[in-house]
Amino acid sequence: MRQLVRNVKIIGTGSYVPDTVYTNKYLETILETNDEWIQKNLGIKERHIAATNQTTSDLAANSALRAIGNAQLSVADIELIIVATATPDRKAPSTAAIVQDKIKAYNAAAFDISAVCSGFLFAMSVATQYIASGVYNNILVIGADTFSKITDWTRRDAVFFGDGSGAAILSSANVTEGFLAYRLYTDSSDEKFGFTIPAGGSELPITQEIIEKKLHFFQMNGHAVYDSAIKVLPKAINQVLEDTGLTIHDIDLMIPHQPSIKILQKTAEQIGLPFEKVMTNMDRYANTSGGTIPILLDEVHRKGLIKKGNNILFAAVGSGWTYGAAIIKWQ
Ligand SMILES: CC(C)(COP(=O)(O)OP(=O)(O)OC[C@H]1O[C@@H](n2cnc3c(N)ncnc32)[C@H](O)[C@@H]1OP(=O)(O)O)[C@@H](O)C(=O)NCCC(=O)NCCS
Repeated sequence: MRQLVRNVKIIGTGSYVPDTVYTNKYLETILETNDEWIQKNLGIKERHIAATNQTTSDLAANSALRAIGNAQLSVADIELIIVATATPDRKAPSTAAIVQDKIKAYNAAAFDISAVCSGFLFAMSVATQYIASGVYNNILVIGADTFSKITDWTRRDAVFFGDGSGAAILSSANVTEGFLAYRLYTDSSDEKFGFTIPAGGSELPITQEIIEKKLHFFQMNGHAVYDSAIKVLPKAINQVLEDTGLTIHDIDLMIPHQPSIKILQKTAEQIGLPFEKVMTNMDRYANTSGGTIPILLDEVHRKGLIKKGNNILFAAVGSGWTYGAAIIKWQ
């Protein structure tokens, strides 16, 4: 049995989604799609959409304050803020720096992580290294995205995403509970632009022509995402099971990224996990990218579905392809 990370646990969770809701029925009125197809293939009924003047950091700050409250800490206790996002407020400064100011957590260092839909998992793994090594004790990890801002609302792949943020406070633990294992992977050799936001960086700076070509919106090859996801998720999950010496029968709950119901059903089938143990909320929020895992974690946590001693499995896949899995023994 190999334990990658010890003595780091989640002591608080929080989440926030904007008020405006776009139902599938509403999307039927603005683009070529239909409610039945979306529900059957993706498991989505509606998604929350940020207001025009609402930024990723606004969502992130709201979820952060809820997580800090849930952990019974004050903002002054936070020593590091990590924001996982693919839709930062600006290229500079980091969204984490903007969140620091919005929540007034001036004792904390702050930076962003870019791993798209796997971002929260990657960010949690970074946080655990600082805690496990004794550098920091209380770290605020946030996953937040506003994909509505990079969506071409005339294209049918607009149905996939929603806006939202979730946060967790990671802290040191005295016992061998909390994170038992982590595995992160990046495979850029196979369709790394299967999901991409082409413009706005150094390759294609924004110009009038770029905007006319709509290259500042996300582009997705749905088949490439599906094919990659059903291959890599079982690989990462089986590896963390092996690392911990647990079997799939020891897993009490799975809190996965929320790409589509079909991907999760196929993954559960491949790893031999009954689907009732797989938590989902994409019916209400769609894919909030960096936000999916922490929003779902917060919901499941607040509903009291996680019991002391439960083995919780996390798994995610995102553009790159980035992917990974983790197991926590809940304290
Ligand atoms: C998108 C996905 C469901 C497509 O499944 P598929 O059945 O192979 O889809 P196809 O592209 O072959 O299209 C099949 C049918 O669905 C229809 N369809 C595709 N997208 C649609 C949409 N948004 N709305 C309505 N119908 C749609 C097509 O028109 C086609 O209809 P037809 O058979 O009458 O021509 C599947 O590839 C998937 O789940 N990918 C994962 C994407 C994902 O998770 N992205 C988020 C993370 S980055």
